[in-house]
Parts: sequence; C-alpha cells; structure tokens
Amino acid sequence: MARRYRRRGLPKTARGLVGLAGDVTGASVLEVGGGIGDLTLELLERGAGRATNVELSGGYEDAAAALLSEHHLGERVERHVADFVDEQGVVEPHDVVVLHRVVCCYPDADALVGAAAAHTRRRLLLTYPRERALTRLGVRAVNAWLRLTGCGFRTYLHPAARIAAAAEQAGLALESRAPRGPVWESASFARPR
Ligand SMILES: C[S@@+](CC[C@H](N)C(=O)[O-])C[C@H]1O[C@@H](n2cnc3c(N)ncnc32)[C@H](O)[C@@H]1O
Repeated sequence: MARRYRRRGLPKTARGLVGLAGDVTGASVLEVGGGIGDLTLELLERGAGRATNVELSGGYEDAAAALLSEHHLGERVERHVADFVDEQGVVEPHDVVVLHRVVCCYPDADALVGAAAAHTRRRLLLTYPRERALTRLGVRAVNAWLRLTGCGFRTYLHPAARIAAAAEQAGLALESRAPRGPVWESASFARPR
C-alpha cells in the first residue's frame, strides 16, 4: 500500500473523500482505521494542523512511520493501535473525523459511527460500500473465502440509512455526497453551528 501511494498517490475513493473535507487549514484530524495513514498525510499537506490515527491493526505501523518521516510530518501525527470503539474515552474530539472504508470492517456500525460522530467538532467523512447486488455478492464471497481460510475477520454491508442515523443521532446533519463509484459511496456530515 505504501509503495502504491508513493508511485500513484491516493486511490480515487480517498481523493473523493478529501474533496468533501473542504478547507482544513489548522484543523485537527482524527482518522479511524487509517491504515498506512495516506489520507491523513494528504489532509496535513492541505493545511490541517495535527492528526490522530486510531488503527486496530498494528501491521501498518512501520509503513506509516516511514511515510511520515519521508514527508517530515511525524511530529504532527499521533498513532494509536486500538479498537476505537473500546478506546474512545481516551481520544479527545477533533475538528474533522475520517472513516475511509472502515465501517465495512466492523460488526457494529451504530457503535463505530456513533463514537466517530460524538468525536466530531466540525465534519465527519465516511466511505462505505454501496448497497447493491454487486457489493452484496462481494461481501458474501470475501466472507466465504475468510471462513475457508480459517480467518475470524468478516466484512459487513451496513445500510447507508443506518450509518446516517448513527451520525444524526450524535447531532450531525448530512452535508454532501461524493459521486458514487461501482463499489464505494462517500458522504460528509457536519455539526450545525
Ligand atoms: C479496509 S481497511 C481500510 C484502511 C484505509 N482506511 C484505506 O482505505 O486504505 C479497514 C481498516 O479499518 C480498521 N478498523 C476496523 N475497525 C476498527 C476500529 N473499531 N478501530 C480502529 N480501526 C478499525 C482495520 O484494522 C483496517 O485497517
């Protein structure tokens, strides 16, 4: 992933989500499930002040540290390896909160989106799979493969309405959606002023 990012930059869905972020000058950014942290890097380079990345898997840390050092941004980013839902109490609210392709990797969308929304001061940005036959089939196929290989991890197709309801319950309002791709849909929710 880091090699791909160095060669080709952010994937298209991530670029769409960055487009929904608006002016991030000076903003604090919390990315949940940010993987190697490429999207966070992009927001920092667009003027965000500092960032926190809470990632469940420790497997990205070396690649993330290398990218931060190459971009001279290590001092502005704090990384935690943790389940955000469990550790939400130790993370303070941030201006912009990002979940790019994360909700589909967590069984409880209400808990994850609700916690992310509760930590959003200004704007919550989400990318999740569209509800359609193609993605339903994809999720079933991936889960069948994971079952076969003995992996306990599963993917989920949470309804978009449920994701929106969890954000709205925490006081956010739907602001805009990025043009949909065949698999992914992105949306931003804002806290009314
Ligand atoms: C499909 S990957 C996407 C990584 C990155 N956002 C991207 O789009 O390249 C989903 C990531 O979300 C992380 N994740 C899932 N649930 C999480 C949670 N509750 N807290 C923190 N990270 C989580 C997983 O560990 C995984 O790295």
